[in-house]
Amino acid sequence: MTNLQPAEFDSHAAGYDGGMGNPLKAMAGENLDDFVAVKVRWLLRRWPDLATRADLSILDYGCGAATLPRLLRAAGVQARLTGTDVSTGMLAEARRTWPADSPPPAFHVQDGVATGLPSDSFDLIIISAVLHHVPLNQRAAVYQELHRLLRPGGRLVVFEHNPWNPVTSYVVAHSPIDRDAILLPPPEVKSALSTTGWREVRAGHLMFLPPRLGALATAAERLFGWLPMGGQYAVTASK
Ligand SMILES: C[S@@+](CC[C@H](N)C(=O)[O-])C[C@H]1O[C@@H](n2cnc3c(N)ncnc32)[C@H](O)[C@@H]1O
Repeated sequence: MTNLQPAEFDSHAAGYDGGMGNPLKAMAGENLDDFVAVKVRWLLRRWPDLATRADLSILDYGCGAATLPRLLRAAGVQARLTGTDVSTGMLAEARRTWPADSPPPAFHVQDGVATGLPSDSFDLIIISAVLHHVPLNQRAAVYQELHRLLRPGGRLVVFEHNPWNPVTSYVVAHSPIDRDAILLPPPEVKSALSTTGWREVRAGHLMFLPPRLGALATAAERLFGWLPMGGQYAVTASK
């Protein structure tokens, strides 16, 4: 399958750093890995068996430079990994930066929202920091594609920037990679999933303190995970 249209992120792909040029973001964490690692720890706290089950199949939809799958692997996750994206440039960066001593995920370029991958093929699908780049009129089609790809009983995790957090809103408003972003508050994701056939739709909240603060930031997340004021949020759902 080929995506003939140049994608927005092709121009950000070489040396992709997730907008670390923003001074506030650079104060909060050392590099993009610091921010994505918060999501990896959150996933492993919620589903500790992810670390031990080699039989699982995980899709990172809109994987970009594959930071999240790379950190999942570094955290000991043995599952089969797949990454898809509309940007051939970002997928090239993912391949270029994947560690030589670790088998890479299967990477696939999307044709718009469509992956072309078989139905019911993943136990866990993660879509992280992607939906705010998807035009409003294509978001329902993304939810449908993810629903098609997930196995019955599988889990979806949507990670998004929280527009109710003033620091997040400020950083997004001042980041070149987010020039065309339209942020979604948690209820938008919850209601979109609830009305497109997903079950057990729930929101959780993360990144209350800068990732640079390490264990203190994790402790804050454990205490305040119910409060919709974190820098990021996660909506989980099942099929
Ligand atoms: C901010 S980056 C996030 C990358 C990665 N998920 C992460 O967390 O590091 C946004 C990514 O979404 C991709 N993207 C935008 N629209 C998409 C779509 N409709 N389907 C899949 N990926 C898309 C972009 O090409 C880019 O790689």
